[in-house]
Amino acid sequence: VHIDWDISAAEKGGYEHFMAKEIMEQPKAVRDTISPRLKDGRIVLDDITLTKEEIERFSKISIVACGSAYHVGVVAKYIFEKLARIPVEVDVASEFRYREPVVNEQTLVLVISQSGETADTLAALREAKRLGARTLSIVNVVGSSIANDSDDVIYTWAGPEIAVATTKAYSTQLAVVYLLAVYFAEKLGTISQEVYASYIEELKLLPEKIEKILENKEDIQYLASKFFNVKDVFFIGRNLDYAMSLEGSLKLKEISYIHSEAYAAGELKHGTISLIEDGTLVIALATQTKLFEKMMSNVKEVKARGAMVLGLTSEDNRMIEKETDYALYVPSADEMLLPSLAVVPLQLFSYYVSSMKGCDIDKPRNLAKSVTVE
Ligand code: G6P
Repeated sequence: VHIDWDISAAEKGGYEHFMAKEIMEQPKAVRDTISPRLKDGRIVLDDITLTKEEIERFSKISIVACGSAYHVGVVAKYIFEKLARIPVEVDVASEFRYREPVVNEQTLVLVISQSGETADTLAALREAKRLGARTLSIVNVVGSSIANDSDDVIYTWAGPEIAVATTKAYSTQLAVVYLLAVYFAEKLGTISQEVYASYIEELKLLPEKIEKILENKEDIQYLASKFFNVKDVFFIGRNLDYAMSLEGSLKLKEISYIHSEAYAAGELKHGTISLIEDGTLVIALATQTKLFEKMMSNVKEVKARGAMVLGLTSEDNRMIEKETDYALYVPSADEMLLPSLAVVPLQLFSYYVSSMKGCDIDKPRNLAKSVTVE
């Protein structure tokens, strides 16, 4: 008997690419990250030593990270400020380390990294420690340099991530941000016990909602087949949707080599709108009800200049179909948690576009999984 034993195919668990496998692993990764930290209706972070009194003493949180982990930081700023009412700064690590940041004993420096080995992020962490800050990192690789050098670590239980473009690590980092922000808010008394309990319930539901999106991945494949030949894509959004636009745009450009930009929708009129022509693809993220009408005005503006618009929102906002050419929906959830759902169709869209273009999805040109040099 002759058996063809392809190790790499076996490792991919039947998927054509690691990225596909890792996208599909997200419900489990998010569940593994969240559920051990929920006990008897409370968030229990045994991993960290920070006390309530220490949390109360922080005058700000300074987040440092690179790439997609930085984009998690941008989401985190909105979440922490809204829930815990602490001022938050977010920096890419290579900027932070050289800009003489105002960081001291009252600062919590939150470092986010999948590998725990990114050179700039590690250097930023060491600079923060030198300045006297308290450090907490969100890391995927146990025992990595960033984990070892931080005062506290919360691990993401995503498991090994092989594809250069991160998916499940991003999702689990975001899950930890939610746990941490709700935890801080409860300790600081900036949310009621009722709101605290409702976030915990919502967090528990995330994995199955992600599963639901993955079950309908063919809808996204269909949209990718319509657009994989475009030259430029603009991702627009406001608030949390702007943060998601950053990640959606990076995912697409890193693996499909299509030029794309993320823009805060309100800034369109200060620049990007001059680049919209007949047939330009605009992906409009509009998950936040309070800003939905404003987003629809932006959609009208780009459509008037010839753009094709793909809208992304939650099932509650079917109105979007009136304004956009195509619409994608994620399950309803508390709006603050919608980034955890919205990122999934964006990952799938990039994956399918890249696949249809015949790109090397798992190993895009010139990029490395972990950047350990400056
Ligand atoms: C590289 C990867 C990105 C990642 C970034 C930060 O650029 O391609 O996917 O977001 O590094 O890596 P880290 O391991 O620190 O999260």
